[in-house]
Amino acid sequence: MPLLFQNARIVTATEDYAADLLVIGEHIAAIAPRLVAAECPPGTRVIDATGKLLFPGFIDPHVHVYLPFMGTFAKDDWTSASRAALVGGTTTLIEMICPGKGEEPAAAYAIWKGHAAGKAACDYAFHMGVTRWDALADRQLREIVADGTASFKVFLAYKGALGVDDRELYHALKLARELGVVVTAHCENETLVAERQAELIAQGHTGPEWHEPSRPPTVEASGVEHLMRFAEVTGAEVYVVHTSCADALDAARAGRARGVNVHVESVIPHFVLDRSYAERSGFEGAKYIMSPPLREKPHSNALWQALCEGFISTVGTDHAPFDFEAQKAMGRNDFTKIPNGIPSVEHRVQLLYTHGVAAGRIDLHRFVDAASTRAARIFGLTGKGSIAIGGDADLCLWDPAHRGVISAATHQMASDYSAFEGWPVQGRAEVVTVRGTVMAEAGRFVGPFGHGRFLKRSPKLPG
Ligand code: URP
Ligand code: ZN
Ligand code: ZN
Repeated sequence: MPLLFQNARIVTATEDYAADLLVIGEHIAAIAPRLVAAECPPGTRVIDATGKLLFPGFIDPHVHVYLPFMGTFAKDDWTSASRAALVGGTTTLIEMICPGKGEEPAAAYAIWKGHAAGKAACDYAFHMGVTRWDALADRQLREIVADGTASFKVFLAYKGALGVDDRELYHALKLARELGVVVTAHCENETLVAERQAELIAQGHTGPEWHEPSRPPTVEASGVEHLMRFAEVTGAEVYVVHTSCADALDAARAGRARGVNVHVESVIPHFVLDRSYAERSGFEGAKYIMSPPLREKPHSNALWQALCEGFISTVGTDHAPFDFEAQKAMGRNDFTKIPNGIPSVEHRVQLLYTHGVAAGRIDLHRFVDAASTRAARIFGLTGKGSIAIGGDADLCLWDPAHRGVISAATHQMASDYSAFEGWPVQGRAEVVTVRGTVMAEAGRFVGPFGHGRFLKRSPKLPG
């Protein structure tokens, strides 16, 4: 059904203006100061956008939906994760494919794609995880890129599980450079983490509050510095995921100053939560275990500053949901066994708006850029992340006057707790469309599952 947004204030990464906007089919058909319903195609639905902001659909460049990890599986599937994303205003997800150590890339690729196909309500793409290096991996990774998955993921952490050694890292970066794809990287020095974990456990420090001391800022900065040096040698374009602290930002800045083509992502938990949450008594802290860990407040201040300056390119979630009762509890006597991750795909946009825009830390343009536009640019999501005639009609009509409270009792994600329980939020996605189909309205999912499309992306041209 054609849609006519009337009296909208259209806000993108670079523009802010009043207009009406017409959607026909999957695309934006017209934008003009005044469009009259009588002159639109028969059956056009008119949406009154008075007092609201019309944003491009938001893009989360870092989620885990299907994730076998730390002896269990992440709690969401593509129906619950995409429903939650849409209710929160996110119209495209990029999922990390995480093959087990030694697993064939093509086999993992087929499994991950199979989980999303026919279920996802929002559009989606993947970053292809590299966990081995040999002739077979080289061949299959080329085929995967040719299939439209034009970015890689490497873990410099999780020793013996997902982590790559230096040889694997070197070849993954070299291939990426050759093919023109970006390498996203989890940066922590895996040896330092493993040794510190063992020491702390041997000393009887078993609670969740010891997770952060086992992987302090220096350990993350060491990982970023390592990536920067390998990127320098290979010339690969790199993207540091979930940057949590000032030390890691400094290591990325130093790399960029030496000419490394590096992008920096931070994720919403690191902006709005801090280490004290993981120190909560009675094992409550387990709800806040993720890696890199939540840091002391000055580090989140450094993230806000870097976001405001534009050094942080994107704000994602690293959505990795595990139940508190049955899954986080696996690490009750040993923090190293608590499944890492915080469910957050639903509330990223609302939290960034509340703690960023409404709190005066970032302006609306930076908000849209970091939560949508820049991810589309970096990862080659053509037609996404902007509002332009002919572009995909992925839109989020935002009510800045809405006031709400986050709770697991009402959220759409499958996890049994919210890390933001009882938090007040400002603003809400009132109408969310994916390629012209209304998928969420006023906090409710209304669209069909299976509407989501796999987004084929092209490598960047050499140059
Ligand atoms: O704690 C986290 N981040 N869990 C998900 C896996 C990863 O490292 O991204
Ligand atoms: Zn990670
Ligand atoms: Zn992740």
